[in-house]
Amino acid sequence: MDLQVARQKVIELRNLVNQYGYEYYVLDQPSVPDAEYDRLMNELLALEEQFPELTSPDSPTQRVGGTVLDMFEKVEHRTPMLSLANAFNDQDLRDFDRRIRQIVGDDVSYVCELKIDGLAVSLKYEDGLFVQGATRGDGTIGEDITSNLRTIKSIPLRLRENVTIEVRGEAFMPKRSFEALNKAKEERGEEPFANPRNAAAGSLRQLDPKIAASRNLDIFLYGIGDLGETGITSHSEGLDYLDRLGLKTNKERRKCGTIDDVISFVNSWVEKRPHLPYEIDGIVIKVDSLEQQAELGTTAKSPRWAIAYKFPAEEVVTTLLNIELTVGRTGVITPTAILEPVKVAGTTVQRASLHNEDLIREKDLKIGDKVVVKKAGDIIPEVVNVIAEQRTGQETDFHMPTECPECGSELVRLEGEVALRCINPKCPAQIREGLIHFVSRDAMNIDGLGEKVISQLFTEKLIADVADLYTLSKEQLLGLERMGEKSASNLLQAIEASKANSLEKLLFGMGIRHVGAKAAKTLAQVFGTMDRLAEATAEELVAIHDIGEKMADSIVTFFQKEEVHELLKELKAAGVNMEYKGPQPVLAEQVDSVFAGKTVVLTGKLEQLTRNEAKEKIEALGGNVSGSVSKKTDLVIAGIEAGSKRAKAEQFGIEVWDEERLLEELMKQEV
Ligand code: IVH
Repeated sequence: MDLQVARQKVIELRNLVNQYGYEYYVLDQPSVPDAEYDRLMNELLALEEQFPELTSPDSPTQRVGGTVLDMFEKVEHRTPMLSLANAFNDQDLRDFDRRIRQIVGDDVSYVCELKIDGLAVSLKYEDGLFVQGATRGDGTIGEDITSNLRTIKSIPLRLRENVTIEVRGEAFMPKRSFEALNKAKEERGEEPFANPRNAAAGSLRQLDPKIAASRNLDIFLYGIGDLGETGITSHSEGLDYLDRLGLKTNKERRKCGTIDDVISFVNSWVEKRPHLPYEIDGIVIKVDSLEQQAELGTTAKSPRWAIAYKFPAEEVVTTLLNIELTVGRTGVITPTAILEPVKVAGTTVQRASLHNEDLIREKDLKIGDKVVVKKAGDIIPEVVNVIAEQRTGQETDFHMPTECPECGSELVRLEGEVALRCINPKCPAQIREGLIHFVSRDAMNIDGLGEKVISQLFTEKLIADVADLYTLSKEQLLGLERMGEKSASNLLQAIEASKANSLEKLLFGMGIRHVGAKAAKTLAQVFGTMDRLAEATAEELVAIHDIGEKMADSIVTFFQKEEVHELLKELKAAGVNMEYKGPQPVLAEQVDSVFAGKTVVLTGKLEQLTRNEAKEKIEALGGNVSGSVSKKTDLVIAGIEAGSKRAKAEQFGIEVWDEERLLEELMKQEV
């Protein structure tokens, strides 16, 4: 066969194999027997072997790459990968619906989808070609797991249209593959996976793509990272578009016009759930209109336009063996239930937080009691209640101590708090917990530095504060239990890489009281550098949207401490970045416009602009667009049929403009 003929044949075979693969893996409707598919694939393999110049990265023969990676590269998500707020009952769903209607009005419809229990991934296609796949990571930075994702046969290596797009979905392991894998693992004397989710995550985190390829993983896509110029106006159209591109979506979705419809869809799945070939842990409910989604916006972690209904968790009975105390990063003493080990929702549970003393009294817990345990949200173990009828009289009462179990200093209960605290700033437990927080995902995100390694480093006196992390040597790490060459050098590399993090990561990691991840980001954006923030006054801080008095005071007090300055000096000397590196929001004071620094609410229907366009333009001019009218609102833009928000604005004496006035002002600013 000459090259020309072979090229033609290869194209023909690829088209057939792709089509049959699509029918089998994506549509779940094979049109030819497996043997026919295998025959064509083998023929293609043989031809590509004979004419290596004909192989191409999107050939179905090229799913499993030959190289084993050293470690996964980090990937930045251009649009953050958010997670979802949870609902646990009908009331939570009704509250969600009410919040939505308050903001966008009554004309809302929802799309309900199954909540697949796997791991969130993002897939990038360029001109139709699959080029990169990544994990969610901390939502902003994930890991490049392209070579593992390529092995999932329901992920097309080429789309049916040559578009550049980023799509998102859930990679998972079907129940049957999970059972077979665990059986094989047990036969080899290996520890089985706790559940299909862990099995899928474990498979995709293997550095050798052959392992992922052997695990029969699958995927459902449920979203598009950036809709760009697609012209799509609703989530349901977006899903149909994914179908047209040849991507696999879940067909058990339903558009619902009312929350009652949503609730009945949710309830129908409580019964049907066990019969599915894959695990789901709930139902995701999303506002369908993309314009409404944009109007609702997101909080730091999750969109306001979607919620995850979680199915009730499995409950089991076990014995409360003891109550131990742990000291947290801020000195709070938390009692922890030590339980007779018991299996719940796939994993063995032996500890559960009891939060505080009041909760122990409220639940009337005694040591030795039989208790009901579940995993809240299927993840966090929780003691639900005591079975008082089964008491034998041998049970004993628990009393909180008066001294810190770690450093012995006297515990205090601060005004207005339920928790007892150790207020000794040198308490080793607080320092250790602070270190664990510093390296955690939303903070400096140092892979390989978990609770165990930090505790060891701290006990061995190799680190006393966060700056010491940057002085660790390979020899010191190799001295730790279970630390090999490879892990030690990966760890050093991860520590080194963290020096380049943008300011908000460091800021959050330093654990300033009341400063969460979102506030840290705002502060980093507004001040740009650590030095400028350190000099900020409480007045400057409260002037920032989202920063309240309590947080402002806490920030000022923090930067007044001599030891904080010492620490910052050491971190700087180690080369840790102290500047904000993300996109710069438009700061009100930098813009000379009528909208600068104003809180604006859009309501009613606009005719010339979409709400989202109006929002973007106002924000570009330094305005802050909010969803609901309050005393803080400066201006309301009322389109046609503006209802309660307009009335509320008038009641508060807030300025109201119509669309024409808005357009006039925008023209003046030429945006
Ligand atoms: S939408 C911004 N839809 O559930 C909305 N998520 O915390 C992003 N999940 O991390 C999520 N099935 O991994 C969405 N049909 C579905 C889903 C789904 C599973 C996962 C996803 C996400 C988590 C929610």
